[in-house]
Amino acid sequence: MSVSDPGLTATDTDIEASLRPKDLTEFVGQQRVRQQLELVLAGAKLRGTVPDHVLLSGPPGLGKTSLAMIIAAELGSTLRVTSGPALERAGDLAAMLSNLSDGDVLFIDEIHRIARPAEELLYLAMEDFRVDVVVGKGPGATSIPLELAPFTLVGATTRAGQLTSPLRDRFGFTGHLEFYAPDELATVLRRAAGILNVELRADGAAEIAGRSRGTPRIANRLLRRVRDFAQVQAGDAAAAVDRAVARQALTVYDVDELGLDRLDRAVLTALCRSFGGGPVGLKTLAVAVGEEPATVEEVCEPYLVRIGMLARTASGRVATPAAWQHLGLAGPAAPGADPGLFGD
Ligand SMILES: Nc1ncnc2c1ncn2[C@@H]1O[C@H](COP(=O)(O)OP(=O)(O)O)[C@@H](O)[C@H]1O
Ligand SMILES: [Mg+2]
Repeated sequence: MSVSDPGLTATDTDIEASLRPKDLTEFVGQQRVRQQLELVLAGAKLRGTVPDHVLLSGPPGLGKTSLAMIIAAELGSTLRVTSGPALERAGDLAAMLSNLSDGDVLFIDEIHRIARPAEELLYLAMEDFRVDVVVGKGPGATSIPLELAPFTLVGATTRAGQLTSPLRDRFGFTGHLEFYAPDELATVLRRAAGILNVELRADGAAEIAGRSRGTPRIANRLLRRVRDFAQVQAGDAAAAVDRAVARQALTVYDVDELGLDRLDRAVLTALCRSFGGGPVGLKTLAVAVGEEPATVEEVCEPYLVRIGMLARTASGRVATPAAWQHLGLAGPAAPGADPGLFGD
C-alpha cells in the first residue's frame, strides 16, 4: 500500500474510480489551480503544441491523480501511468519514454521517490524530448541519442519539498492543491451520492463534509460508511442519510467532530501525554504511534497543522493549546507556575 492511498482496499479503489471527476467542470473547488491549468491547456491547444510539464503537489486525496486524468482527457490524449517507486532503473524509464506517441500525457505519481539515475534521464527527456541510451559497460560504453515524441509529463507529489531543484525547475507549471472548504466537500458529496444512488439530505452532507479533514477522498469514503450504517439500521436499502444518522455512524467509525481519525488522535495524544506537548522529533513520534514516519508526516500532519493543533518547529513537533483542549487535557504548566522539586 502506498503512502498516498492510506487505507484503500480493492473495492474502495473501484468505487473511487467511478467517483472521479471526468473533466474540469466536474472538478470541484481549487479555483486557482483550475483556472491556471485551463490557461496552460488552452494556450497549448491554440499553438498546436504539447502543454508544458505540470507538477501537482499536495496531501493525499485532494485530487492529483484525478487532475492528471482530466488533463489527458481535456487534451484528447492517451494517459500513460507510472510511479516514482516503479522507476528504479533508468532503463525502466527509457523504455516507457520511447514508447510514448506524439502528445501523450505521462503521469508519474509520487515523483519524489524516483531513483536518481532515472531522474537524470528525465531532465533531458523533459527539456529536449531526447534520451541518451548507454550501450555497453566500462571504457567501451557508448551513448546513443534517441529522439522522443513530444509529450507532457504530469508529476504528482505529496512532498514537493523533497524534489531536487533541477527536477522542479523543469516543470513549466506547478499547481499546489489546498484542503477543501466544507461547502466544497458538500458539493463533492452530493455528486457522489447521485452516482451511488444514496438519498443524502443537506444536513447530512454538511455533517459529513465537516468531518472529512478537508479531503474529497475521505468525504466519499465516509459517505459510503454512513450509507452502510443508515441502511443497516433502518433495514432498508433506500434509507436516507441525514445529520442524526451521520453523527451516529461517524461515532461508530471513530471519526470525531473535527474529522480526526484514530491515527490523528494517537499522534496528538502521544505528543501531549508522552512528550509533554513536545518538541519531539518526527521519528520518535512515529515510533510512539507505531506508524511509518512518512505516513505521520504526509497523511496526518498537514491537516493537524492546517487546523492549528500541531506546529512543526526547528526543534521538533509541538502540540498547540488547541490540541490539549481538543483531547480534554490540561495543558503543560507554564514555566514558573509549577514549583516542582525545587520549589519552596
Ligand atoms: N476536486 C474534486 N472534485 C470531486 N471529487 C474529487 C476532487 N478531488 C478528489 N476527488 C475525489 O477524491 C478521490 C481521490 O482523489 P485523487 O485524485 O485520487 O487524489 P490524490 O491523487 O491527490 O491522492 C477521487 O476519486 C474523487 O472521487
Ligand atoms: Mg493519487
